[in-house]
Amino acid sequence: MVYESKHPLVSHKLTLLRNVNTEPKKFRQLIREIAILMAYEATADLSLTETTVESPMGSAQGHELTEKIGLVPILRAGLGMVDGIWEMMPGSEVWHIGLYRDEETLRPVFYYNKLPTAPTVQLCLVLDPMLATGGSAVAAVDILKKWGAERIKFVGILAAPEGIERLQEAHPDVSIYVAKVDQRLNNIGYIVPGLGDAGDRQFGTG
Ligand code: PRP
Ligand code: URA
Repeated sequence: MVYESKHPLVSHKLTLLRNVNTEPKKFRQLIREIAILMAYEATADLSLTETTVESPMGSAQGHELTEKIGLVPILRAGLGMVDGIWEMMPGSEVWHIGLYRDEETLRPVFYYNKLPTAPTVQLCLVLDPMLATGGSAVAAVDILKKWGAERIKFVGILAAPEGIERLQEAHPDVSIYVAKVDQRLNNIGYIVPGLGDAGDRQFGTG
């Protein structure tokens, strides 16, 4: 399943994010805000357990989240998506996966994994603003499945059709939530029109 946001706030903020003149501070703020909005859409089907709560006026029927959620940013660019979502779901756990894309081969190179020996969460949200060739997302989901994760969703900002196809082919059970599906990849594997290098633009590098 591929979900592309139709929300006006997402569309407005994405336009600011793409702008070549948006400086790193504003860029990070926008990544954070869009991530919250995308997580809102990606968590619409979370399961709830019924509970009762005492308000100052009496008892009320209520709900609490049933599942434990793991936020799994792909380093580096996924880091900017964590804090806002974590504030919305403070009971989540955050597990990091370090991958970078070799600029020549465009293949993901693994360098860090901080997962516990056994799964501690029922739902993993893989966070990465960019789904380009799909190599990094597929590698991250491979790692999570080997770890034993049962339910995984990919939450991003921009995707190329090529990346969506690759992730769906490798992991058809992983739903994909993005702000926008862009036109294509260019000859060096960048999303067009895209926003450039999401890691470099957040961290002021490159
Ligand atoms: C970017 C992005 C994804 C990956 C997407 O990371 O954040 O992880 O590229 O490309 P793919 O779909 O073709 O694999 P990058 O490798 O630039 O590392 P960084 O986040 O450390 O800058
Ligand atoms: N990674 C990025 O940061 N941007 C792209 O367009 C593709 C991969």
